[in-house]
Amino acid sequence: MKVAFIGTGSMGGLLIEAFLRSGALHQSFICISNRSQQKAEQIAGRHPGVRVVTSNVDAARESQIIFLCVKPLDFPGVLSEIKDVLTEGQIIVSITSPVQIEMLERAVPSRIAKIVPSITHSVQSGASLCIYGSRIQPEDRLLLEQLMSSISTPLMIKESQTRIASDISSCGPAFIAFILQRWAETAAEMTSIDRADAISLGAQMLLGTGKLLTEGGLSPEELQRRVAVPGGITAEGIAILDLGLQDVFSKLIDATHQKYNEDLDKLDILFNETFDDY
Ligand SMILES: NC(=O)c1ccc[n+]([C@@H]2O[C@H](COP(=O)([O-])OP(=O)(O)OC[C@H]3O[C@@H](n4cnc5c(N)ncnc54)[C@H](OP(=O)(O)O)[C@@H]3O)[C@@H](O)[C@H]2O)c1
Repeated sequence: MKVAFIGTGSMGGLLIEAFLRSGALHQSFICISNRSQQKAEQIAGRHPGVRVVTSNVDAARESQIIFLCVKPLDFPGVLSEIKDVLTEGQIIVSITSPVQIEMLERAVPSRIAKIVPSITHSVQSGASLCIYGSRIQPEDRLLLEQLMSSISTPLMIKESQTRIASDISSCGPAFIAFILQRWAETAAEMTSIDRADAISLGAQMLLGTGKLLTEGGLSPEELQRRVAVPGGITAEGIAILDLGLQDVFSKLIDATHQKYNEDLDKLDILFNETFDDY
């Protein structure tokens, strides 16, 4: 099975490395293209069997699955470039949340999936969010989920939930890292602990907490009950968090959804301008 990656930036590169490391894809089955070719060449430098091509059309023409790993507003340009060589049997995988399945199905004849990955896949963990278009067959779904399960836990979601699910699984690692950074900096300012030690403790704690909430079978409420005994120190801390976080998450969800809606509007205009029959 030949797989193409168009766009080998941060996420495209991460996916290629993760699939190779997991053994799910062999180097000789991967074909890559990127706007600045040097980035693609760097990947091939580490994995000499990976084929770098100079045009997106060449990458698309010879592959059964084509991962589009460019930013949302670059989608219309890339799709109009490759649409004439795409066939009904090929599978296009968009890894970006705002580009809608319907937009892709109107632009190209191929089978469409949207799979939103996460940086956590570089350590073979985290959920990949899977949304399938109307042309996807059961065997395509199986193929994609087999591939994604080599580096993640694939979860099928509704397209209407893409933004909120991506907030948690794809943006979440950055949000949690930000909280850890702030916590460690404040700890270093207020106590004798080093920032690096605080971060290291926090990272181990996050790993363990994630395991408790997944393989440990604890719910967030149970976990808190087990740690925060009434009248204890943890309960004091939770009371402070409860107060401070009151409208933080509603503001965060408003902000990410607003940006998403702005991208949707821009994409609608761009797809209209790019595709005659759109
Ligand atoms: N980063 C994450 O954690 C994450 C998580 C989930 C989903 N995503 C999605 O992944 C997508 C890519 O994000 P990213 O973080 O990987 O961005 P990025 O690092 O900027 O990568 C985008 C890549 O696309 C290339 N590109 C742009 N136009 C192209 C074209 N016409 N033909 C071929 N290549 C082209 C760029 O090439 P140049 O080198 O020339 O700039 C760049 O290497 C976004 O849609 C994002 O929403 C990212």
